[in-house]
Amino acid sequence: MVAERFHFPEKMVTRIVDLRSDTVTKPTEAMRAAMASAEVDDDVLGNDPMAFRLEEEMAKITGKEAALFVPSGTMGNLISVLVHCEIRGSEVILGSNCHIHIYENGGIATIGGVHPRPVKNNDDGTMDIDSIEAAIRDPRGEIVYPTTRLICLENSHANSGGRCLSAEYTDRVGEVAKKHGLKLHIDGARIFNASVALGVPVDRLVRAADSVSVCLSKGLGAPVGSVVVGSKSFIAKARRLRKTLGGGMRQIGILCAAALVALRDNVGNLATDHKNAKLFADGLNQIKGLRVDGPVETNIIFIEIEEGSGTNVGKICKSLEDRGILLMSESISRLRVVLHHQISASDVQYALSCFQHAVKKVQTENGN
Ligand SMILES: Cc1ncc(COP(=O)(O)O)c(C=O)c1O
Repeated sequence: MVAERFHFPEKMVTRIVDLRSDTVTKPTEAMRAAMASAEVDDDVLGNDPMAFRLEEEMAKITGKEAALFVPSGTMGNLISVLVHCEIRGSEVILGSNCHIHIYENGGIATIGGVHPRPVKNNDDGTMDIDSIEAAIRDPRGEIVYPTTRLICLENSHANSGGRCLSAEYTDRVGEVAKKHGLKLHIDGARIFNASVALGVPVDRLVRAADSVSVCLSKGLGAPVGSVVVGSKSFIAKARRLRKTLGGGMRQIGILCAAALVALRDNVGNLATDHKNAKLFADGLNQIKGLRVDGPVETNIIFIEIEEGSGTNVGKICKSLEDRGILLMSESISRLRVVLHHQISASDVQYALSCFQHAVKKVQTENGN
């Protein structure tokens, strides 16, 4: 995935529809007001009242004993993996296409000395239970093998187009983990999207997990931050590791205040994002030369440029950019669109008309 800087040098672009990610949202007026009036103190010293409130709320929502605010989802995952894999040479079983494995700089290995054991992700973001179990190292081979200590899941699964893992599937992975004395971590960057799409409360979706990392700054729309949740002893260790990694941030109450507004105001908006994503996908599938990959369950859409369509990603993106439509290219034939609460149904219609125009323009230029 390539993040580009956008410039609009030639034309005055009057309307911007930013579909690069659900991380691009700007704080709402209510968030800014809450940030301005937030009561704060030093969180590293353990005194920030807004951090307490947010962490208490997140522990309640996820059904875990305790929670900890961290600067990013990447740090939340790293801390979680490192707490579960304290001994160097531990191994973690994770999806071949998951965020921790692909997009987090290999931090679990370079910083934590944790060995990744990828298992193939299916199109729906799951890994076959049998394949997970087969990947667990036989302790009798410890003279040569790393020691399996953790399994990681991702829900919703971003690289699988935001597909959701069911509570039953997660429970089954949890049973495998328990049977072999392993821990289960969920990268729940978008667990609220999964919860809303499945109609299943967050605490039920993550019941089998020992830890979960939840992003506040994606679908929920808060400006900064994630929260890790787990047992009290897990969070005590996570707190120390957060400091080690430079993630102790003093008056974080300003950020936590915005996150509390996001939890209050934006969870309900996720259903609209999902509805808009489905509308968008239906419209894209009507455009000859484009094909949406898989069913759209939440807020992420992957678009394939069909072979022989006379178009290409670079030219389509340029034409869209000229009209203020921003998105990410995944490869030479694949684009990614992400919906969020600052994209309206009217933005979707406008973006679709721009897609139509872009595809036609490129096809004409290429003599098709
Ligand atoms: C599934 C998933 N996990 C973790 C992260 C990391 O979050 P952050 O960008 O806050 O480090 C992302 C970011 O896009 C993500 O999509």
